Amino acid sequence: MTTAPRAAVAALAPYLTAETTIPGFENPIQLGSNELGFPPSPKAVAAIEATAGEGPTYAESDHVALRAALAGRHGLDADHILCGSGSMEIIVQLAQCYLESGRTLLMSQYGYRFPMTQAEVTGADVVLAPERDLTMDVDAMLAAVTPETVMVFAVNPNNPTGTVLPFSEIRRLRVGLPDDVMLVLDSAYGEFVTDPGYETGEALVDEGTNTVVLRTFSKVYGLAALRVGWAYAPDDVVATIAKMRPLGSIPTQALAGATAAVDDPDHTTWARDNVIGLRERFFATLRQFGLEPVPSQTSFILVHVPDHLGIGSEALYQEVKARGILLRRVTNFGLNNHIRISIGSPDGMAALTEALTDILGYAPACPAQLQSAPELAI
Ligand SMILES: Cc1ncc(COP(=O)(O)O)c(C=O)c1O
Repeated sequence: MTTAPRAAVAALAPYLTAETTIPGFENPIQLGSNELGFPPSPKAVAAIEATAGEGPTYAESDHVALRAALAGRHGLDADHILCGSGSMEIIVQLAQCYLESGRTLLMSQYGYRFPMTQAEVTGADVVLAPERDLTMDVDAMLAAVTPETVMVFAVNPNNPTGTVLPFSEIRRLRVGLPDDVMLVLDSAYGEFVTDPGYETGEALVDEGTNTVVLRTFSKVYGLAALRVGWAYAPDDVVATIAKMRPLGSIPTQALAGATAAVDDPDHTTWARDNVIGLRERFFATLRQFGLEPVPSQTSFILVHVPDHLGIGSEALYQEVKARGILLRRVTNFGLNNHIRISIGSPDGMAALTEALTDILGYAPACPAQLQSAPELAI
């Protein structure tokens, strides 16, 4: 007989990630996990290779070089930067440090679900505020605050909807919250936003408010395998997490690769422009199939599968999977008849276009355009 987990963990619904394997397909096309469809910075790859032999020693745990590089690149205070093994590790740490039974985490209806799982692990309650037009509604969020609310998790732009709020709305949320309620602003996809009113939000930390901004190397940097994320946070949050951080959770090779990537801004711009260009072209293609994509400010598109196409989102998922391509189901969000498609490589998007043509029986006018992503000028 084994030890029973804590009651909160026993009752936990598993955190769902995208499927990554298909029996019979050695290399399925991954359009389910919002990974970059373009190669990472060659400078990052060289830095990883140069540190490959550094196995015996634990990685440097204060992340001095990476924090200095990020501070320099973004004009931030290095003392307010904390790094983690992906921003997921920082989300776990925030939940462990600030949530418990009797405290409440407030999120948006279709908000990214990982913080919800971590809150539930601690025994905290989770409240979801309703959205309007698949977009976070600041008034509804503020109306849902109770004396038990200690943390508000706002994902901007949001995963899986791809929708965004201007910074003025995020500021209105911050101003409307009690000062002792922590606002966690997850800007994982911030680099892909083209809306002019958008900001990733570090200014709120510099202004001294109770705000934590989350960023990641897993999206525009194309370094998801390295597991590096970072937060910009007030002094006391940095000090609190430092008390419980495991030794060397970001490997030496990952630190070296991420630091080199920060120092290659041309590559980041190239990756961003490629994703945005492909996103807009693929959006048009989806509409030509009669699908209903939600305008996206991220590296993925949420798609409504309308009834008149005669195929449900689950059947579409399975048909696409049978052709060696993995998308992401979103019914666990209550988004019935929707599916999420990552913007992958031009070849991947062309293969999906071909699969959709086969399944839906309608050829879009412009699949060839999907191949026209610009080459990296070196
Ligand atoms: C909104 C959001 N935040 C955080 C993460 C996790 O990022 P990381 O790879 O840095 O742990 C993801 C990953 O998909 C995400 O979509």
